[in-house]
Amino acid sequence: MPGIVIVGLQWGDEGKGKISYLLCRDADCVVRFQGGANAGHTVITQGRKLKFNIIPAGSAAGARPCIASGTVVDLDEVFEELEMLRSIGLDPKLMISRSASIVLSMHKKLDSKIEEARGGSAVGTTRRGIGPTYSDKALRTGLRIEDLLNPDDLKEKLEILRRLHGEEPDNFENLRRLGERIAPYVGDVELYVNDVLDYGGKVVFEGAQGTLLDIDHGTYPYVTSSNTIAGAACTGCGVGPTRISQVIGVAKAYTTRVGAGVFPTEIKGELGERLRELGQEYGTTTGRPRRVGWLDIPLMRYAMKISNVDWIALTKLDVLSGLEKIRICVEYEVDGKTLGIAPPSVKLLSRVKPVYEEVDGWRKISEDEWRRIAERGWEALPDEAKAYIELLEDLLEKPIKLISIGAEAGMEVER
Ligand code: IMO
Ligand code: MG
Repeated sequence: MPGIVIVGLQWGDEGKGKISYLLCRDADCVVRFQGGANAGHTVITQGRKLKFNIIPAGSAAGARPCIASGTVVDLDEVFEELEMLRSIGLDPKLMISRSASIVLSMHKKLDSKIEEARGGSAVGTTRRGIGPTYSDKALRTGLRIEDLLNPDDLKEKLEILRRLHGEEPDNFENLRRLGERIAPYVGDVELYVNDVLDYGGKVVFEGAQGTLLDIDHGTYPYVTSSNTIAGAACTGCGVGPTRISQVIGVAKAYTTRVGAGVFPTEIKGELGERLRELGQEYGTTTGRPRRVGWLDIPLMRYAMKISNVDWIALTKLDVLSGLEKIRICVEYEVDGKTLGIAPPSVKLLSRVKPVYEEVDGWRKISEDEWRRIAERGWEALPDEAKAYIELLEDLLEKPIKLISIGAEAGMEVER
């Protein structure tokens, strides 16, 4: 009964979409259990680039997409992505939980308003209404999928929202119509996923965002509004912790971050620009340029500990090609002490100085050559690239079993 959780080990954008797609090729279902359309998961297959924000990207491999109760859902987005799946010849049997929360346009407006109110300390949110929707959920005034299915409930809930927010929430008729459209997809995701596991099926829980964006364990307040660590698969979908048989951590071969907040290994200046261009580090959801930095081992150790990661999928290794030297932050220095693992204190983290180890890079490699490497496997990688990966395994004390060397599915090396 494999229940596999995919979790981001950095600040999001680690390439979880492609990894989920690869792991879903023989999965029965794939579940989004937290977050909303702030995620940007990309799959490139059969010459098509598919961008998912709310439906799990693993569904492009044919696994049944499920959206669980821990999510905040933008329904227009759901319908668009269903169309996208149909356009590649799939017939997605989406199942969405009755208890999933609904993002209203009011929440998106409020997201922007809160960001403006924060001024210089704005979080840099995706403005997808994530925080305000989770707030209404926590206040117990939120709208859930189930409410859309019953016009009387819907009216009552909208009236409460109107009184609370002091403005007219989304149009009743529009929401009622959305309810009619979503009705055929509504199901008991919580029971279904447990049944699949009971019958020996494979379930992939596709995490969104990354560990350092977790609302409790990340770099608060520069985080998202949900729990993003592996444990969130259990609370967000209603499966017991012992049902999770594997946790896979996804990390880029370097680090990126969108939005504000602490970033110990950030590279500024020309080299930063160069890496951003090479890696095409611009947000999938918002198009914003991402901040880039070297790989941060203490942060990854922290992320791997709190999700108890079994193995790592390392992505975008190809982007580092052509650099004479590659730096890896192996520990931190703070107050005259060294730290091997990031402290769960943002205040302390913002004061650490990274200690780097420098290793040899490898030559520039053409796309065709990468393609041949993907076909031939591990042995075909440049010696320096193999040494880089082996050094990371030593530092992290877990195997790197999957190495992605291009955005497209098929451009990877498995070990
Ligand atoms: P995937 O799933 C990268 C960031 C935003 C902002 C902070 C809060 O593609 O890895 P929010 O809109 O969630 O309230 O914004 O979190 N953020 C992400 N960064 N990848 C994501 O998702 C992200 N989802 C949210 O940039 O800093
Ligand atoms: Mg993203």
